[in-house]
Amino acid sequence: MNHAESRRYPRSLALGEATVQIEPLTPADAGALDAFVQALPVQDLLFVRRDLSHPKVRESWLAAVASGEITSLAARCNGELVGCTAIVSDPLSWSRHVGELRVLVAPAWRGRGLGRALIQENFALALGQGLAKLCVTMTVDQRAAIAVFEELGFRAEAVLRSHVKDRDGQAFDLAILSHDVAEVQGRLELYGVSQALQTS
Ligand SMILES: CC(C)(COP(=O)(O)OP(=O)(O)OC[C@H]1O[C@@H](n2cnc3c(N)ncnc32)[C@H](O)[C@@H]1OP(=O)(O)O)[C@@H](O)C(=O)NCCC(=O)NCCS
Repeated sequence: MNHAESRRYPRSLALGEATVQIEPLTPADAGALDAFVQALPVQDLLFVRRDLSHPKVRESWLAAVASGEITSLAARCNGELVGCTAIVSDPLSWSRHVGELRVLVAPAWRGRGLGRALIQENFALALGQGLAKLCVTMTVDQRAAIAVFEELGFRAEAVLRSHVKDRDGQAFDLAILSHDVAEVQGRLELYGVSQALQTS
């Protein structure tokens, strides 16, 4: 079973005047995902191992979602995709207790609390999935992203020098931050996970 199916969705989140619906991303979101990714600056895509601007990469993401290999959420407002997430894990690897978390919020929606709420929702998903550790990767200049994750308890674990190159060949360092998810379980209330997203 896809792990997002074991939690109740949709969940709604009030962000000022707007209400955002959170629910599993599905292959039916292919068109919305194309438009969402095309509106992102390339700098925001460098943290994902493969280049999401290639249609084949998005297709394989949605295929992995359909097969349950990746757990992904979509955040929508009035039908428009405004954010999405993925937890990538491999039950056949020696790191089967580790999930790689990816979070993307549309530029126009940043700084309003959506990213934090999506990360909190993914903590809950990771716990349900039996994962003990979540890792996130981002370029070291993504100060806002690093601030969000550190605020939620992620800590820097490694820096990979000149590890990704943009289309112009400019190299960037990657920071890897991680979080002991199991330890969060006792602090769910503190983080507001249970209140963050109410089922509707
Ligand atoms: C990282 C990201 C998901 C954050 O989403 P967001 O919706 O802007 O985050 P939030 O609004 O929930 O911000 C939460 C906290 O982040 C920090 N923050 C947000 N924007 C910031 C900015 N521009 N500068 C500094 N700190 C910032 C603040 O501490 C904020 O707390 P506050 O609300 O108390 O001020 C978003 O910036 C993004 O999609 N970035 C590109 C992709 C990426 O790098 N993903 C991370 C790798 S997985």
